Amino acid sequence: MKNKSKTIFVCQQCGHTSAKWLGKCPGCESWSSFQEEIQSVKDLRKKSSNLSIKSTPLLDGKIEQYQREKSNFEEFDRTIGGGMVPGSAILIGGDPGIGKSTLMLQLMNGINENKISLYVSGEESHSQILMRANRIGATNKGIHFSNETNVENLLNLFSNLKPEIIIIDSIQTLYSSEIDSIPGNISQLRMCANELLRYTKENGTTLFLIGHVTKDGSIAGPKVLEHMVDTVLYFEGDNQYDYRILRSVKNRFGPVNEIGLFRMSEIGLETVANPSELFLENADHQNSGNAVTALLEGNRTILIQVQALVTKTQFGNPQRTATGIDHRRMNLLLAVLEKRCGKPFAFYDVFLKAAGGLRIDEPAADLGICMALISSFEDKPLPAGTVYIGEVGLNGEIRNVNRLGERIKECLNLGYKNIFAPSVPIKIKDVNIKVVKNIQELQ
Ligand code: TYD
Ligand code: MG
Repeated sequence: MKNKSKTIFVCQQCGHTSAKWLGKCPGCESWSSFQEEIQSVKDLRKKSSNLSIKSTPLLDGKIEQYQREKSNFEEFDRTIGGGMVPGSAILIGGDPGIGKSTLMLQLMNGINENKISLYVSGEESHSQILMRANRIGATNKGIHFSNETNVENLLNLFSNLKPEIIIIDSIQTLYSSEIDSIPGNISQLRMCANELLRYTKENGTTLFLIGHVTKDGSIAGPKVLEHMVDTVLYFEGDNQYDYRILRSVKNRFGPVNEIGLFRMSEIGLETVANPSELFLENADHQNSGNAVTALLEGNRTILIQVQALVTKTQFGNPQRTATGIDHRRMNLLLAVLEKRCGKPFAFYDVFLKAAGGLRIDEPAADLGICMALISSFEDKPLPAGTVYIGEVGLNGEIRNVNRLGERIKECLNLGYKNIFAPSVPIKIKDVNIKVVKNIQELQ
């Protein structure tokens, strides 16, 4: 039977297909995400002529030992589970200007000069990339560059050059001549990624795909790409601060939710060895409204300062502002303090902030937030060298948090010896752990 083409509509967010245009996607509920694409339909009922296809008993197989390739960035290697695995594909997403291209270039510069690596950019010219390479002081002669964006041509280039590391900046700029839709469309993305992945697996190359993010922060055409690759990393940060966090959200060859910390400097990204220093600046300044808490980010504990400012409302409704802390969480904790501790926050403006621009999502920070609020309300500084850890329940009870022992060890490393926590998981010499069961005990 002859191949025929038909027009379909594809949701650019989740890949849901429909015969007609829809305003709202029934798959992911996003609006105006359908685009017209042409699909060629092959007759799948045609019988295969290959009769020699066999399966193998699963348990008779051998587990391959991966030879991980280390980069010069310890933080990067740790985030992806100890180094790059040949034949694996890694997707990196992040806001524009956060430093994805810089990270990739520095990574390439750090690998062995005898290895050929290829930087494919559909976004920047050779001279722009060269300028960045000079800025970071790149000296590696094994780095090659190409502006090619046609995936079939790229595959030819790969077979000629035989690079061991390939970087595609970005996957949304590639296109395949096999498909009629424009670059960045979901079927183009799928097709190009598929072709590149096949090459990578067959040749043991490490492939990095840089992906654009949509307004809500996920990688454009996201789930499709995320399912296809082995590792998904997000490069995050705040424009007002120079630190950057590399976070692994999927990893077939290592841990997830691991983070690496970097600082963007004049000459590229530097690794940050002690993350707590970033979020504890002047933490022991004896002002009211400052409390220190311990967060878990991946396998790491980060000590962070929470700042609160509580002032009497001068006019109208009280103001509530939270930076780096969920607004609803703040309102909930204020309600608990009002009800259980009798603090009349309803007549006060409240400003709450996580120092250094980090986001506090963990409930383990509740106690720290409450203590910062109480301290500012009463205008009494909290004792120096103290950390508050615990989730606060609706009755004002302090609930346990996971991996408390690890958090406490990190507090000690940084010289914090007084800890308020819901239990004593480990006894450490020199550390004074005070058990709190209810928020009323602390006011
Ligand atoms: P870039 O890697 O181009 O970001 P992305 O690829 O994620 O869009 O980084 C761009 C930003 O980083 C830009 O605002 C300039 C800044 N930068 C530095 O501060 N120092 C440097 O050494 C480099 C190379 C960039
Ligand atoms: Mg870039």
